[in-house]
Amino acid sequence: MKPKVFLTREIPPAVVAHLREHTELTMNSEDRVLTAAEVIAGLRGHDALLCNITDPIGAEIMDAVPGLRVIANFGVGFNNIDVAAATARKIPVTNTPGVLTEATADIAFALLLATARRLGEGERLVRSRQWTGWNPMQMLGADVTGATLGLLGFGRIGKAMAKRARAFDLKVIYWNRTRLSAAEEQSMEVTYRPFDEVVAASDFLSLHVAYNKDTHHLVSERQLSAMKSTAIIINTARGPVIDEKALVRALAARRIGGAGLDVFEKEPALEPELYTLDNAVVVPHLGSATIGTRTKMGMLAAQNLLAVCSGQRPPHCVNPQIYG
Ligand code: DGY
Repeated sequence: MKPKVFLTREIPPAVVAHLREHTELTMNSEDRVLTAAEVIAGLRGHDALLCNITDPIGAEIMDAVPGLRVIANFGVGFNNIDVAAATARKIPVTNTPGVLTEATADIAFALLLATARRLGEGERLVRSRQWTGWNPMQMLGADVTGATLGLLGFGRIGKAMAKRARAFDLKVIYWNRTRLSAAEEQSMEVTYRPFDEVVAASDFLSLHVAYNKDTHHLVSERQLSAMKSTAIIINTARGPVIDEKALVRALAARRIGGAGLDVFEKEPALEPELYTLDNAVVVPHLGSATIGTRTKMGMLAAQNLLAVCSGQRPPHCVNPQIYG
């Protein structure tokens, strides 16, 4: 018997076709986030939930669908799911690491360049038809080549960012909970520095930590005040890793040079000033947004849920302790 899967929102067609072949699929075909009540109504009678990072999945959903065997998240981040509640109910929660590393590092580096070279402002000027021609002093940005890039978090995406930085002759310093071996640091041409030193020494500071209670507001007033007045901060991790109100104050007072942001504390809303501050480049959570990447994410989510439904351990389980 094929497992019954409830999918909360449309994902790339190749994944939907794959799911239709291997499962009995029910899919929300409306292009919107479902309420918890709607998720419960859709999920009843199903074995597996395939959800998105915008779906809050709490204990009430798990308790309302007692036959639920797996929660497969379409995303590497899983802070939308109450993993402790799932673990207490012995429900495996899975995610999709690895496949979105390069696409996310691309966006992080694109934001670094766009913010340094004022591409958002420049594009707005041209489109406004107010551009009066080349001007030797117009929109002078920050030099990228030879600058110092600080990475807070040095997992897959941080490392992919370091690789891109090498091509631009950036000097890369990093902080991570676990330090690499000397040989790894040497081969990646990166230098470990304590957290506060990375914050203070960076011309570009890019965030690559997972979001959890320890990384909530990892960058707040204190860190922003310690940054160089010309420094640019890049966030492609999760919005609440930065205290967005403190960031707006720092940007408005020009206490830092700029911010390139793909993620926000209360998506899709931004702190109101972020809509107008010229020294911020803001894009709508595009880190993994390529058709190839999203297809791989979906295939991995399907692989995870099919494994659980056939009695196996899924390749990417975020609460492996349920397996003892
Ligand atoms: C993730 O997978 O966590 C990303 O934020 C989605 O782009």
